[in-house]
Amino acid sequence: MASRQTVVFLVAVVISLSDFIHSFQPLFSPDGNSSTHRDITLRAVLRKTAEVCRVMAASEGRDFRLTIDDSLSTDKVQRACSTTGTFTSLLSTVLFQTSIANMYFSNAKVDVVFALSEKHHFDDETFQGGRDVITAGVAAVKASVKQESFVAGRWNLGQVFHTLQDFYSHSNWVELGNKSPYSTLISPDQPLENLAGLSVPTCRNCTGGTCENNLLPDLLQQGLLTSGYFNLFSPAKPTGKCSHGGSFDRTSRKDPVGGINKDDLGSSHGSLHPKAADLAVNATMELLEDVRVAVGDKNFLRYGPPTP
Ligand SMILES: *[C@@H]1O[C@H](CO)[C@@H](O)[C@H](O)[C@H]1NC(C)=O
Ligand SMILES: *[C@@H]1O[C@H](CO)[C@@H](O)[C@H](O)[C@H]1NC(C)=O
Ligand SMILES: *[C@@H]1O[C@H](CO)[C@@H](O)[C@H](O)[C@H]1NC(C)=O
Repeated sequence: MASRQTVVFLVAVVISLSDFIHSFQPLFSPDGNSSTHRDITLRAVLRKTAEVCRVMAASEGRDFRLTIDDSLSTDKVQRACSTTGTFTSLLSTVLFQTSIANMYFSNAKVDVVFALSEKHHFDDETFQGGRDVITAGVAAVKASVKQESFVAGRWNLGQVFHTLQDFYSHSNWVELGNKSPYSTLISPDQPLENLAGLSVPTCRNCTGGTCENNLLPDLLQQGLLTSGYFNLFSPAKPTGKCSHGGSFDRTSRKDPVGGINKDDLGSSHGSLHPKAADLAVNATMELLEDVRVAVGDKNFLRYGPPTP
């Protein structure tokens, strides 16, 4: 487990890097209205935890009165899940908050440790590499739970969340009109299909100060998947490819200029940011469901509110 100094240090690093980070912002929204990795993780963990507690309550014939929506708080979920007295549940709320905080700090850490690794962010059309990061991470999470290393499990889980969530901001999955998560990313036995090959152009210049229609119509008609190229140092990218976008991305000033990321409301495709964030929440829940099926409800809940 990270010491307090490590966590404080990490927060400081993450905050100072947040200007140049090219992801959903890790912890704090730049404009007060954009969703961060932290918001997305919190929404998903609270909703999934509440769902599992509802199933367990039903199987034990207990009442469960909690509406599962985005107004959930750790406190509400903890109380609804708790079957014990006030003192224990007060204690558990703190532990529950700490558990979730561990997940979003390790999630944020990916921006620091793997800042320049394309596959950890699904940049540069690294779909196979990104899926491998997720698959390896999920296997590590399940192994940790089997060894009862819940702390290690939470750190692994937070890191996997980061890569999974970035897919929805950095690829054109949202622009293709998809209304549900790309389940293939958490199913290693399924082939990744309809990827735009390296020689397939994907974007044209953004014009008139907006980047709304820069994905090529052919690409969208054929339902081909792509993501933006990103580089802090070099403008080089394959011919005709989309960039991530933003002032730090040097590839986005090269033809085709502009970008496609949905990291926040002010991004190149910022108007689609809320959709990308909602899909990232649902994808995170789907990954949690996969872990739950593998480890069982009791073990699953030991990630969140410690069961009595
Ligand atoms: C956030 O959204 C609200 C409601 O849509 C809006 O009134 C407010 O100006 C926004 N704040 C910023 C900083 O964009
Ligand atoms: C795209 O924009 C770049 C930079 O403004 C310009 O040099 C290039 O000619 C444009 N390409 C097309 C096809 O319009
Ligand atoms: C996410 O899932 C919920 C139900 O679990 C659904 O109501 C909602 O429309 C989904 N959101 C997106 C963006 O797919």
